[in-house]
Amino acid sequence: MKGVGCEIKDSAFTAAVYDFFLRPFESLLIQKWRRQLWEGVKGPRVLEAGVGTGLNIAHYSSDYHVTAVDLNESFLQRAYRKAKGKPVQVEFVLADVKSLPFPDHSFDTAVSTFLFCQLPDPMPGLTEIKRVLKPNGVLLMLEHVRPQGRLGGVISSLSGPLYLLTGEQIAHNTEGFTTTAGFTNVTSETLFGNMVKLIRAENDNYK
Ligand SMILES: C[S@@+](CC[C@H](N)C(=O)[O-])C[C@H]1O[C@@H](n2cnc3c(N)ncnc32)[C@H](O)[C@@H]1O
Repeated sequence: MKGVGCEIKDSAFTAAVYDFFLRPFESLLIQKWRRQLWEGVKGPRVLEAGVGTGLNIAHYSSDYHVTAVDLNESFLQRAYRKAKGKPVQVEFVLADVKSLPFPDHSFDTAVSTFLFCQLPDPMPGLTEIKRVLKPNGVLLMLEHVRPQGRLGGVISSLSGPLYLLTGEQIAHNTEGFTTTAGFTNVTSETLFGNMVKLIRAENDNYK
């Protein structure tokens, strides 16, 4: 596991209970969404931003070389333990998605699951992921997003207090941010009540 110069956060308690609280939702829905996302991943070089406790590791192919990044040491250690002994090639790096310690054009695919809904401003992280993706590389995200229509307005007005309570930012227009960050061919599939989406975007570094 590599540590890289950034302000490392640590939430040992959250990391310890994360899988337990998510388990019913994982079995019912999220595992299926994760599988769907990983079907779209092309290797060999894959970046997973905000790997958390490593709930995507079950979907890593042994053909990929995955670089798994997180800002939180306790989460990263749990992910490391999940990967140990599995036939996967993965390196774990303590780093902030807003300042990734990798050269330009390093990865074929970047993946994030429920990362950008934790960030008050998704733009710096999206811009940084675009920088490290190869030209024609793909970004795949599974994220809580701002629902359309009247519900979106209600959710938006609740998003400030909800963010303070849960740390989840549920009102981002993540597709809009992705386009603004310079990604092209941004498409999405609604997975749950217009609030969880699988988003796919391409990096056209020549534009
Ligand atoms: C809600 S959890 C999702 C974890 C995992 N991707 C999943 O699907 O279960 C969000 C993760 O993003 C990490 N994170 C938050 N801000 C980050 C940042 N700026 N850079 C890298 N990781 C970050 C957190 O430490 C946490 O592990």
